[in-house]
Amino acid sequence: MATRTQSRSSSNRSSDRSSGESRSRNQNRSAFSWGDNAGPLLGAAIAGAAIGFAANYGRKALMQGMEATLGDWDEILTAEHDEALALFDKMLATDQTQTFKRKMLFMKLCHALDKHAHEEEMVVYPALREDDQAGDADHLESEHGYIKTFIFELSEMGTDAPNWLEKVRDFRQLVSEHAHNEEENVFPKFKQSMTEEQNAHITSLVNRDGFWMA
Ligand SMILES: [Fe+2]
Ligand SMILES: [Fe+2]
Repeated sequence: MATRTQSRSSSNRSSDRSSGESRSRNQNRSAFSWGDNAGPLLGAAIAGAAIGFAANYGRKALMQGMEATLGDWDEILTAEHDEALALFDKMLATDQTQTFKRKMLFMKLCHALDKHAHEEEMVVYPALREDDQAGDADHLESEHGYIKTFIFELSEMGTDAPNWLEKVRDFRQLVSEHAHNEEENVFPKFKQSMTEEQNAHITSLVNRDGFWMA
């Protein structure tokens, strides 16, 4: 019976032999040879590039289409506020036995708020700061921190907890007041100070950010 050392060294020898054979086979080929199976590989590479191109083209066309239909940045954000508040209302219409429905609605709400916060924190609030409205931007961003705190607390809490509805109601109140301040005060004041080009630019950035977060 071969020892472990013997079998390792004999297998090494056989691999040396086979790698030597394969080296000599390879020497017959050009260094730039595509090899025997190049056809399918090349086809797959071209198909991959075509899919990538089509996906990019489709994405661009989709974004241009979105920008044409969704309106200005403030209208997009207002529509998202309405969407979030409608989810809150659905959550508030549930009872303690509907734990699965509560979980699904909460997940949808978290995703919607996350996308929305990203658009504001990465585009609108920095643009506000550049426009000498840092006070408003900082205040709104700090409120986003408390929105995340509610998300954390609700994630930690069971959806059948007796105070779940009360927590959701308080959360909705904060989001509603925050959204109202943006829609009625901060956004109109900011929009008034913009040129048409700036308005179009911010709209395009909000669309781009929202698209990647969708
Ligand atoms: Fe906000
Ligand atoms: Fe907002």
